[in-house]
Amino acid sequence: MKRTPVPRSVARCIAVAAVQLDPAQGMQHLHQLDMRGSAAAQGAVVLGIESSCDDTAAALWDGRRIVAQRQADQDIHRQYGGVVPELASRAHQSHILPLIHAVLADAGLVDHALADALSGESPKAAMARLQGSAAPIDAIAVTRGPGLLGSLLVGMGFAKGLALGWNKPLVGVHHMKAHVLAHFIEPPFPPFPFLCLTVSGGHTQLVRVDAPMAMTVLGQTRDDAAGEAFDKCAKMLGLPYPGGPEIDRLAGEGDPERFRFKKPEMPELDFSFSGLKTSVRYFLDKERRRDPDFAQKHLADLCAGIQADIIAMLLDKLERAVQKSGLKHVALAGGVSANAGLRGALARLAAEKGWTTYIPALAHCTDNGAMIARAGAFLYEAGQRDSMDLQATARLAW
Ligand code: KG4
Ligand code: ZN
Repeated sequence: MKRTPVPRSVARCIAVAAVQLDPAQGMQHLHQLDMRGSAAAQGAVVLGIESSCDDTAAALWDGRRIVAQRQADQDIHRQYGGVVPELASRAHQSHILPLIHAVLADAGLVDHALADALSGESPKAAMARLQGSAAPIDAIAVTRGPGLLGSLLVGMGFAKGLALGWNKPLVGVHHMKAHVLAHFIEPPFPPFPFLCLTVSGGHTQLVRVDAPMAMTVLGQTRDDAAGEAFDKCAKMLGLPYPGGPEIDRLAGEGDPERFRFKKPEMPELDFSFSGLKTSVRYFLDKERRRDPDFAQKHLADLCAGIQADIIAMLLDKLERAVQKSGLKHVALAGGVSANAGLRGALARLAAEKGWTTYIPALAHCTDNGAMIARAGAFLYEAGQRDSMDLQATARLAW
């Protein structure tokens, strides 16, 4: 089989990075952290790397919990009103090495002074040193898709370099499945089977989860994602990117009944948000012809109405999914789960219907490295090992 070579520049950079992990010191710290005391019983130690969109993130799962996690946001996209793929991959390139180094340092596996001393070492010498080392990590997990290809390639190339350098298995992770598995980073863990509504900037999915590796998509968006609907409507209102948190903040001060928009009817458990966006655009165009400052004058009410419509569409399908599946353990994942209106409405609906709800900590709802490390540990423990042929895939099938 044809092998995909790791680009030379990446391999060089990784060789230097990888040697910074001092095995003797690492083992000592692992012992102190009680990470290895009962390794067989507690599960795999996995480094997770996420770079699918505009956040570079990494975390270390020690078999029981996340012991270190870091994230580098990319503010550069704000000035363009959305993520610019080329700028995102460049920013990943500059963030990834110091970020992963920082995660390893936070976990006590790297000595900053040692790392600085070694950073001047030649790749050849670094490689030779590596051969005698045994990093106290069982596997390197990385997002393989879906996402922006240029961004995914940065994480994938880096992870392959680390896997080669440390001679550790590589485990490719599906980004959307990892969002679901973020529920197993910290208790309370939802019991199987449960329903998960994943609402992010790129996806909106209703998933039946029977086991960590047995998930079925019951419904998904046919066009825009829920987060995308928030962001596009916010842009039309003149709000900065990302617009979701802005609409959330302003909606709290507005009247949700004053302006409501057309909600398309979708069959079964699928979603569509582009009709809402178009309806908001036509309404604003019409009103702005009469009064150019219309949106500014009614900003809070407009935000409240748009948010109420998006929430109604999400909860309508969620309710149908519960009815259809009979599952009453309901989980929320993805960046839009930060929305205060959605959280409140879900809590009210759950109380009324007798559902139990699960929402991970906010840092684990938005894109993060911990969910990749956690999902990677599940996959590694189930026997998944990927080769250097593993491809980053922008439109990765479920
Ligand atoms: O999961 P995520 O961090 O990244 C993707 O995988 O896309 O989700 C980002 C999305 C953005 O569209 C952002 O506007 C939305 O989540 N978002 C929110 C809120 N916080 C983030 N949408 C509504 N209300 C919020 N508070
Ligand atoms: Zn995501």
